[in-house]
Parts: sequence; structure tokens; C-alpha cells
Amino acid sequence: MENNRLWWLRIPIAFFLILGLMEFFIDSGNKLAILEYPMAQAFMLFILLLIIAIELILAAIENVMFQTLSEEGKERYLAAKNEKWEWEWGKRTYSKLLGSKPMEAEGEIILDHNYDGIRELDNKLPPWWVYMFYASIIFGVAYMVRFHVFNDYDQVMEYEQEVAAAQLEIEEYKKTAKDMVDVNTVELLTDASDLSAGQAIFETNCVACHMADGGGGIGPNLTDANWILGGGIKNVFHTISEGGRDGKGMVAWKQNLKPLEMAQVASYVLTFEGTTPANPKEPQGDIWVDDNTGLQGAEGD
Ligand code: HEC
Repeated sequence: MENNRLWWLRIPIAFFLILGLMEFFIDSGNKLAILEYPMAQAFMLFILLLIIAIELILAAIENVMFQTLSEEGKERYLAAKNEKWEWEWGKRTYSKLLGSKPMEAEGEIILDHNYDGIRELDNKLPPWWVYMFYASIIFGVAYMVRFHVFNDYDQVMEYEQEVAAAQLEIEEYKKTAKDMVDVNTVELLTDASDLSAGQAIFETNCVACHMADGGGGIGPNLTDANWILGGGIKNVFHTISEGGRDGKGMVAWKQNLKPLEMAQVASYVLTFEGTTPANPKEPQGDIWVDDNTGLQGAEGD
């Protein structure tokens, strides 16, 4: 018995329908949920197995029912099943769109020309082509009016809009990705919230050696223009992250502080410059001139 001919269509349709629904309901940002979450993959695998199981059960039931039929019933059932109802609709639309005459009716449209036995049929233009042609005319008129009469926007404007939108996205991204700073991307933070977070970190971890006002003790004075290991946000971030010269007492803080926290405390440290601490330690190192050469390096003198 030819069983459930359409299983190969039903399974993928059901599968992709559920996949589509899932993607619609799960918010996974720009990525597909099925790529993002292993759970989603497991779920879809389960769904696939379930659909296959349902198909198998249905086939089995049909088979059992079929066996219970009388011989005559079986014949009638098969006859009904074999009517290819599934494709009737598709076939009809297809031939409508094609608009061609069936072979038997070709006599009506044959032309008089006869080139050594080669005859010509006067077929109508196929409707699918004609409709597309009309659609392109409508599109063309709308396009011309919009862009050449009303000058809606041009390529340059489109480009600028997209760049502006992308710029906004970058800003958004930077806000959420603040924590991903490293020594190459770190920038001086100036938000009050960042600076007060930096102050809190400084007061918990650093005052023992640098004093609360940055005047210095075991560690150098952070309020003067002199830096042993280089000034500027990048050098200071680097010093905090990697530590000072061996044996001096300034450890690498990257084990204990997150990148964002190091950027915050580094920015806070830089607010000391020019203030007058209670007990300033004498300047050490060179006067830092920011000449944009970037990192001085932890081994600097
Ligand atoms: C155990 C004492 C100690 C603690 C705690 C400490 N530092 Fe230091 N720090 C030092 C010493 C000593 C140096 C000098 C290192 C050198 O000479 O190589 C230094 C150097 C620095 C420098 C470079 C100064 C320059 O002139 O180049 C910065 C910036 C700094 N510390 C920031 C911090 C921050 C921020 C913290 C807290 C997260 C911290 N330190 C905690 C002892 C300490």
C-alpha cells in the first residue's frame, strides 16, 4: 500500500513552522536562537523526533485500519487515495500562469507561414510575464515620482543616515561593552558614576600605600605631574593592571579587579593631578608629557 505519500513534505513543514515560531518568541538579539542556545537545539531535535514519531504512529494506525477493511473496501480506499488531489490546485495555477493552449487546441492559433515545414504558433504572452511587466511599470512610475520629482533622498543622504545609525549603535554597544576595555582601548572616564566607583575602589584597595588624597606613602605621589611608570590613562591603566617594577610593592591588580574597575580607578587616580595632598611625597620619575606615543611600558624609569 502506498502510504502517506506526503510525509516528506509534512515533516519539514511542521519542523520549520515550529522553528519559525520559536525564533519569533525567543529574544536572542541578532543571532538565531537555535545558534545561540544549546537548549533550543535540543528542543528542535526533540520536536523533529516527535514529528517523525507522530508520522510513524499515523502510518501504523492507517495500516492497521486498512487491514481490517474488506477486499472491496480496500480497493475503494486505495482508489480514493490515489486521486492526486494534492497537486490539482498547483497544476491549475501553473497552467493558468503559463497561459499556453493545450496541444489539441493548437490548430486555432497556428499561423500561415510555413518555412520548409516549420510552422509558427501565435501564443499569447504568458500571464506571469505580463503581470510582472505591469508590476515593473507601476514600480517604475512610483520610483520616478518619489526620487526624481519629489527628490525623497539620494545615495549620499542614505549613506549618511546609515552611518549615523551605525554610530548610535556603536554608542549603545560601548555602553554595554564597557567591561571589555583593555590597555589599547581604555579611555579616560569622566562620568560622575564612574569616578565615584573608582573612588570606592581606590579607598578599599589603594589608600594603604597611596593615601586617600593620593599624597603617597609606600607608593609614589599620584598628585604631581611626575610619573615613574608613565602618566596618561593608558599608562596608568597598564600600571594598575600589570603592577609596578618587581619588588617595589605595586602588584598587578588584574587578578582582583575587572577591566572596567581598573579603568574607573585609573580615571579616578588621574583626577588627583594638581590637587594638594596633606603630606605630599617628593616627586619621583619624569614629568609626563602626553605626546600621544602611547605606552611607556612597565619597565620605564
Ligand atoms: C602595597 C602597596 C600598594 C598598593 C596597595 C597599591 N600600590 Fe600603587 N604603587 C605602589 C608602589 C610601591 C608603586 C611604585 C611602583 C614602581 O616604582 O614600579 C606604585 C605605583 C603606582 C602607580 C604608578 C605611579 C607612577 O608614578 O608611575 C599607580 C598609577 C598606582 N600605583 C596606582 C595604584 C592603584 C590604583 C592601587 C589600588 C588599586 C594601588 N596603586 C595600590 C604601591 C602600592
